[in-house]
Amino acid sequence: MYPLLRPLLFKLRPETSHDLVMNTLGLVSKSKQLTSLCAMLVGAKSQSRPAPTQSVQAMGITFPNPVGLAAGLDKQANACNALHKMGFGWLELGTVTPLPQPGNPKPRMFRLPEHQALINRLGFNSVGLTRFVNNLARADPEIIIGINIGKNAATPLNNAIEDYLIGLRGVYAQADYVAINVSSPNTRDLRNLQQHQALNQLLYALNLERQKLTDSTGKHVPLVVKIAPDLDRRQIDGIAAILRRNRIDGVAATNTTLARRSVEQHPLAHEVGGLSGPPLDDAATATVAALYQNLQGEIPIIGIGGIDSAQAALEKFQAGAKLVQIYTGFIYQGPRLIKAVLDALAPAAGK
Ligand code: FNR
Repeated sequence: MYPLLRPLLFKLRPETSHDLVMNTLGLVSKSKQLTSLCAMLVGAKSQSRPAPTQSVQAMGITFPNPVGLAAGLDKQANACNALHKMGFGWLELGTVTPLPQPGNPKPRMFRLPEHQALINRLGFNSVGLTRFVNNLARADPEIIIGINIGKNAATPLNNAIEDYLIGLRGVYAQADYVAINVSSPNTRDLRNLQQHQALNQLLYALNLERQKLTDSTGKHVPLVVKIAPDLDRRQIDGIAAILRRNRIDGVAATNTTLARRSVEQHPLAHEVGGLSGPPLDDAATATVAALYQNLQGEIPIIGIGGIDSAQAALEKFQAGAKLVQIYTGFIYQGPRLIKAVLDALAPAAGK
């Protein structure tokens, strides 16, 4: 069904079709029957009960399968039930900011179909924590949920820690893990939080807060740091050392790239924002490999960036990823991409 729908959706502007699909999936998610029907129509029904061999243990969580939805598709936590039925092993929701904010002016999302790629400069359009948490209350509690937190654009960088602490407190009760986004290219200077001292201070503060929350709730929520693909080896090694020092539970690599080398002839290549999809694949895999060489499995890696086939997913695992996530490939191919990856992984996944 998705191959039939896609040409229609691609006639609309990228963000219009995104909103249309997400609003529809949001309505569908309110009814169990509609959720199952929708999964059947898009050909995802057979994946809704994954084989036990596909489950992966990481960060103290049992992921039903190792293919997750990457952050940014469901920023409002509105469509969890329907998205989960598409076959994802878990969902990473957000990025959510403490207060609602509109993000950057439109247009701010562009398709590069020749490369099966996207450029976006959404800039954390967010419903804010209160609405996000209310929406999430409707999700099936069995779904494994990561929640990706960020800072408001109006918060000066030297007050950023406070925004992340508000985010952590706000989502703690509902999260299976919390991802700390210091790598979106679309919030001014956000990536500076990847620098040595800034990252160390941020993670130190989040760890202290997490300890308080663990003590008061009895629930220990793993912390994951999401990094950019535009880092050199020295920077990656520096980040790995800080993750270790702060006993961070996982690292997600990578976010979108500012590089345009692989699409430089494309008429939209000059659009400001983060590039995703296959043109990001090599840089993301190289980042995973560099992290793995350093961390040696001590901290699990979520491999993200350009996965458009089972082979591309296998390369992330071979580079050292324990889990993978997909965004752009899902836009271009729909749920059949998840199934293709899972079919190719079985029974190798989870080892
Ligand atoms: C993203 N991504 C993203 N990441 C994040 O941590 N927070 C976010 O809010 C968003 N928003 C977002 C919007 C859009 C339109 C896209 C295409 C991407 C990045 C995403 O989670 C992922 O890291 C990259 O897109 C690379 O994976 P793919 O898309 O190549 O599979």
